[in-house]
Amino acid sequence: ATDAFTYDPGFTSTASCESALTFIDGDKGVLLHRGYPIDQLASQSNFVEVCHLLLRGELPTAEQYAAFENSVTMHTMLHSQFDRFFEGFRRDAHPMAIMVGTVGALSAFYHDSLDIHDPVQRNISAIRLIAKMPTIAARAYKYHVGQPFVSPRNDLSYSENFLRMCFAVPAEDYEVNPVLAKAMDRIFILHADHEQNASTSTVRLAGSSGANPFACIAAGIACLWGPSHGGANEEALNMLKEIGTPDKIPEFIQGVKDKKYKLMGFGHRVYKNYDPRAKVMQESAHEVLKAVGDPNDPLLQVAMELEKVALNDEYFIERKLFPNVDFYSGITLSAMGFPTTMFTVLFSLARTVGWIAQWQEMMEDPSQKIGRPRQLYTGPTTRDYTPIEKRG
Ligand code: SDX
Repeated sequence: ATDAFTYDPGFTSTASCESALTFIDGDKGVLLHRGYPIDQLASQSNFVEVCHLLLRGELPTAEQYAAFENSVTMHTMLHSQFDRFFEGFRRDAHPMAIMVGTVGALSAFYHDSLDIHDPVQRNISAIRLIAKMPTIAARAYKYHVGQPFVSPRNDLSYSENFLRMCFAVPAEDYEVNPVLAKAMDRIFILHADHEQNASTSTVRLAGSSGANPFACIAAGIACLWGPSHGGANEEALNMLKEIGTPDKIPEFIQGVKDKKYKLMGFGHRVYKNYDPRAKVMQESAHEVLKAVGDPNDPLLQVAMELEKVALNDEYFIERKLFPNVDFYSGITLSAMGFPTTMFTVLFSLARTVGWIAQWQEMMEDPSQKIGRPRQLYTGPTTRDYTPIEKRG
């Protein structure tokens, strides 16, 4: 990773901003958060600690960690009036539609009292968003499946709390499976931040106008929903289900080459090598399937065979197409009990810390101006107006 800092991507002139949060070397498949490699954070840290790292710039001491975790825990509840927003949606509404609507509505509860130019208040907004996203996401799921909402508890970890809010029902006790809690936490770490991807750039652009952070995060959620971005995890699992068995892979690969469809969960705007997150995600899939699913899950067999075939096929090699973070995540999330419609919700939950840390970094820059991308004009040259009776 040390030589990563001498890495000159060669696009200095077109870079949209400067940032110290995340470094990606797409050619080498390197991903660092504040200098720490993603595989080390995924195996040795936890999501709340990574939130501290992204927001504050350093791994916390034990005392700092306890204080930070407590500040998050103390903000997990939602205003009781907030729950009524969910009632406005159809029960079969896509949970991402619910997320876009309800997270934007957080503005109505905090906007008036928020001075975004005050670093203390910016920090409170960041903590509120990180803390409340699991509660909102769990409510989106419960509303979707028609079960009663489950309130957060202060004696559970961030990921344990989220799993309990999703899967506990009043009729019986619910014990969080530690293997699933660890897998959930690791998945959150893998999705926490990723430099200036489409949704992060959306949050920055919205924030550059002075919009409140809750509205900016809602804009990021809307952008993440697209199948080329965060929506790919849902599409990738649907693709694996459609292929069904390894013997159908050659026919599917031919369809990709014939440009009938894309291999979802493959390819990346930046990684032209293996996405380091995909490796960890594949390990997670094996662990979760061993704990709660079928270690020989046919979808995992299809995914691994599909990866092997693609990585040895000229079409994918010459286009530098490798598995990305979305290729294996759906198998793991499905084994954990989540429907495919919740996959991008989980991505947005985890990415909230990256979005808000990037927003905070932008707001701390005194030279920051409103974003104003320019264009290459390709329309008609100047011409005079023609009254309607003289047209046609
Ligand atoms: C995420 O930016 C980020 O950091 C995003 C993200 C994050 O953490 O925020 O990493 C999360 O969005 C991951 C990507 C998830 N999306 C998918 O898995 C959807 C499938 N992937 C493709 O849509 C595509 O790979 C993109 C959009 C992700 C990237 O496209 P690129 O790099 O712009 O590639 P391209 O469109 O220039 O394609 C180059 C060639 C083309 O073929 P030719 O025209 O040269 O013949 O590769 C082909 C493309 O058709 N190609 C694919 C392909 N991806 C690109 N062919 C088949 N399957 C694919 N997945």
